[in-house]
Amino acid sequence: MATVFVFANQKGGVGKTTSTYNVGVALADIGQRVLLLDLDPQAGLTFYAGFEPEDLEKTLYHCLLRDIPPQDVLLSNDYGIHILPANIDLSIAEFQLINVPARERRITRIINEIRDEYDFVLIDSQPSLGLLTMNALAAADQVIIPVSTEYLSVRGTKALLKLITQVRGQLNSGLTIAGLLPTMFDSRTIHGREILALLNTEFPDLHLFPHTVARSIRFAESAAERIPVFETKIQVPGALAYRELARDLVKANRR
Ligand SMILES: Nc1ncnc2c1ncn2[C@@H]1O[C@H](COP(=O)(O)OP(=O)(O)OP(=O)(O)O)[C@@H](O)[C@H]1O
Ligand SMILES: [Mg+2]
Repeated sequence: MATVFVFANQKGGVGKTTSTYNVGVALADIGQRVLLLDLDPQAGLTFYAGFEPEDLEKTLYHCLLRDIPPQDVLLSNDYGIHILPANIDLSIAEFQLINVPARERRITRIINEIRDEYDFVLIDSQPSLGLLTMNALAAADQVIIPVSTEYLSVRGTKALLKLITQVRGQLNSGLTIAGLLPTMFDSRTIHGREILALLNTEFPDLHLFPHTVARSIRFAESAAERIPVFETKIQVPGALAYRELARDLVKANRR
């Protein structure tokens, strides 16, 4: 049965979507059965995976609010992943869910229907701490927190940690934090190095993944071309971090 991870940070643009997709493809590459969930109406993950969000008739929205089975919404691509896609419809879900029974457990229910068919379920969440993110945290076994190595990202992490504590108390006592994943790291700047040190001192109890993702323009290019970053012709410094993280997740999952 799959282990469910959510990539979360309420700070925007820290690499949640980039990390979800590239770790997903890296896991599929080493033989894992991977399901991705796009829980962000911006639909960046759906686009990165090669689909036109606005052309999709059925998305995760329909599973959430129209009781369509996830099997009817699933898409797959040439890089070996399955995805429950999103589009802008998901932005109304946040409001419509308010009146639905067990509104924080809708994603849990959807995942439970197909969980047995996968080794890993990875959820990409939006940069807010609303009901959709709450659903993701309620459904997950573990949280991976991408933090871009800049100060505001550290503040976003603190807000997320508060929400995680709340979710543990009310919805999901088994939720653990797999670790902080430093992204967009520029080893040449003092600021980048200071933030890495700050992460250690601010969050002494959290695991800091050793595979720091280096800053590279190739990430944006890879998303625009919809090619996983380690599949591009030119070797991307930082891409390897995602492969190493995938290997670590598989090892930890076997225990
Ligand atoms: N290591 C990196 N180096 C440089 N740019 C990166 C890196 N990782 C991601 N990016 C780029 O930074 C931007 C934000 O990344 P991404 O969309 O993954 O963040 P996000 O946390 O999902 O954002 P949002 O909060 O809006 O959902 C994108 O243009 C992406 O291509
Ligand atoms: Mg995103």
